[in-house]
Amino acid sequence: YRVLLLNGPNLNLLGTREPHIYGSETLDQVEHRLREHAEAIGITLDCRQSNGEHQLIDWVHEARTSHVDFILINPGAFTHTSIALRDALAGVAIPFIEVHLSNIHAREEFRRHSFLADIANGVICGLGAQGYDFALQAAKQHLSKQ
Ligand code: DQA
Repeated sequence: YRVLLLNGPNLNLLGTREPHIYGSETLDQVEHRLREHAEAIGITLDCRQSNGEHQLIDWVHEARTSHVDFILINPGAFTHTSIALRDALAGVAIPFIEVHLSNIHAREEFRRHSFLADIANGVICGLGAQGYDFALQAAKQHLSKQ
């Protein structure tokens, strides 16, 4: 199976960015661990991060042509703003899980709404970087059942 992990704006700063909220693991460390986890369960994981909405949308489009089976996405602040990213995910019709490190429901009011959540297979938030592992496991289960 092919799974694409997308991380949105500012997630390149993981490890140094508000570590009390987002943890001290860097994105490199998280991606490395996840790639190993993926390999162990028979998944090829492609990890990408961009600060740009345009780039993320292009990668979602590309996922369809490259036959990606499942997408894991932490859209960062685009979660709360981007109808375009929502349309891209709906457009390619690839199942996806939305992941947030922090509990977006326990923070500022403006983080409570997601433009993606209602079309996602599921949403994981508030469990830190472990959330990506849970999402990967859920993706594997979803794909095995098909
Ligand atoms: C985030 C939550 C968003 O509200 C925020 O803008 C981020 C990170 C998270 O992983 O907790 O950049 O997606």
